[in-house]
Amino acid sequence: MDKAGAPVGQWSSRFAFLMAAIGSSVGLGNIWKFPYMIGTGGGSAFMLVYLACVMAVGLPILIAELMLGRMGRQGPIETLIDLGRRYSGSAAWGLIGCVGVLAAVLILSFYSVVAGWSLAYIPKLLLGEMSGLTGAQTGEVFGSLLADPWKLTFWHALFMLLTIIPVARGIQAGIEKAVVWMMPLLFVLLLVLCIYAAIEGDFAAGMAYLFKPDFAAVTWDVVLAATGQAFFSLSVGLGTMLAYGAYLPANVSIPRTSLVIVFAAILTAVLAGAAIFPIVFANGLNPSEGPGLVFVTLTVAFGAMPGGALFGAVFFVLLAIAALTSSVSLLEPIVAAFRGRSSLSRSTLAWIGGIVAWVIGFLTLFSFNIWSDVHPLGGTRTWFDWIDFLTSNIMLPLGGVMLALFAGWVVSREDGAAILGFESPLLFRLWRILVRVVAPVGVVAAVVSNML
Ligand code: PFF
Repeated sequence: MDKAGAPVGQWSSRFAFLMAAIGSSVGLGNIWKFPYMIGTGGGSAFMLVYLACVMAVGLPILIAELMLGRMGRQGPIETLIDLGRRYSGSAAWGLIGCVGVLAAVLILSFYSVVAGWSLAYIPKLLLGEMSGLTGAQTGEVFGSLLADPWKLTFWHALFMLLTIIPVARGIQAGIEKAVVWMMPLLFVLLLVLCIYAAIEGDFAAGMAYLFKPDFAAVTWDVVLAATGQAFFSLSVGLGTMLAYGAYLPANVSIPRTSLVIVFAAILTAVLAGAAIFPIVFANGLNPSEGPGLVFVTLTVAFGAMPGGALFGAVFFVLLAIAALTSSVSLLEPIVAAFRGRSSLSRSTLAWIGGIVAWVIGFLTLFSFNIWSDVHPLGGTRTWFDWIDFLTSNIMLPLGGVMLALFAGWVVSREDGAAILGFESPLLFRLWRILVRVVAPVGVVAAVVSNML
C-alpha cells in the first residue's frame, strides 16, 4: 500500500529496488548527454573531471539521499520537514524538497522532448530510411526532424503519455517488470555497438579522445559542466533517490547499493562514448556536434551494419525505455509532493504534473526550430540551454549540497552510522568528510567561480 505522500510503491525485492534506482540514473543523461558534453566540453578533460565528481561528490550524496530516505520513510518534502524538526527544530529543510520538485518539472519538460526524438527514430530505422547513409546524410535526417515542430510535438506528447500512465497507476506492476530485463538488454546492445565501433571505426582516435589526459583543457566551465552532469546522471540533488530510499528493505546495504548504481551509470556512459567517438572520427563527423551527436553517429553505424535497421530500431526502443524509467522517477516525486496536501487522486495529479511539464516542454521543443535564434537574457543560450543549465548546473548541485550538509551536519553521527552500517569505521569517516566538507566546498566553488 502507498502511504499518503509516499513516493513509490514498495519495491518487491532488493533486485527490484536496484533496477529501479539504476533505471532512474541510467537514461538519456548517460547515453545522449554525456557523449555530446564530452564533445562540447573538452574531451578527456571533461571525462576526468566527471569521474572525479562522481566519486567525490555524486557517490557520497547518493548515499546521503538514500540514508535520509530510509530514516524518513515518506515523500522527500515530508521526510526533510520531519527530520529537520527532529534534529534541528526547524521545518525549513522541507524547502530543499520544494526546489527539488521544481527541478523535476523542468527536467521532465526537456527530457520528454529528447526522448521523443528517440521514439521518432524507431520507425525511421525499421522502414530502412537510414540504411547506407553517410554521416552528412544522417545529419540532414536529424536536422529535418528537429525543424518540424508538429512531428516533435507528436513524439513529445506520446512520450509524456507513456510516462503519465504508469505513474497514474502506481509504477510497480509495469515499470519494475520491464526494467528487470530491458536494462540488461540495453547494456548488451551498447556492447555490440562498441564492438562494431572497434572494428569499423577509428577506435584509437575515439579512445584517445575519451581517455587521454588533457589537464590543460580543464577550466571552471568544464568543472561546472562535469559537476552538473555527475548529479544529473546519478539522479541526485532533487530528492528522487531520497524518495526511492524510503522503501529500501532494512537488510540492504546503502553504501554497497550506491556503489552498484554509480558503477552502472559510469559504465553506460563510457560504453556510449566508446560506441560513438570511433564512428565520429572514422566518418569525419564533428565531435562537438551537440545534442544530435548520438542520433547522427549511431545511425551511420546502424545504416552500414548487416541487420542494422532492426538493431537500430531495438536500440532506440531501449533508449526510450531507459528514458522512461528515468522520466517516471521525475514525475513520481512531483505527484508525491502534492499527495499529502490535496484531495486529488494519484491519477489526477500524475496527469496534471505530466501536462504541466509537457507544456513547459515547448520552450525546449521550439529551441530547435522556430525559436532557435531566441536567446532569453542575451548571450548564445536558447531556452533549452537555459533550462538545462539552470537545472543541471545550478539546482541539482546546490540541492545536493544542501542534502549533503543536512546529512553530514544536522543528522546525528550515531544515527547516520547506524542507518548506513558501513563495514569499516574508516569508510564512514571518509563519507562524513566528503558530505560535510569536500562536496559542499567543491560544488559551491564550481558554481560561484562560474558566475564570476
Ligand atoms: N539520471 C537521468 C539520466 O541520466 O538520464 C536523469 C534524471 C532522472 C535526473 C531523475 C534527475 C532525476 F531525478
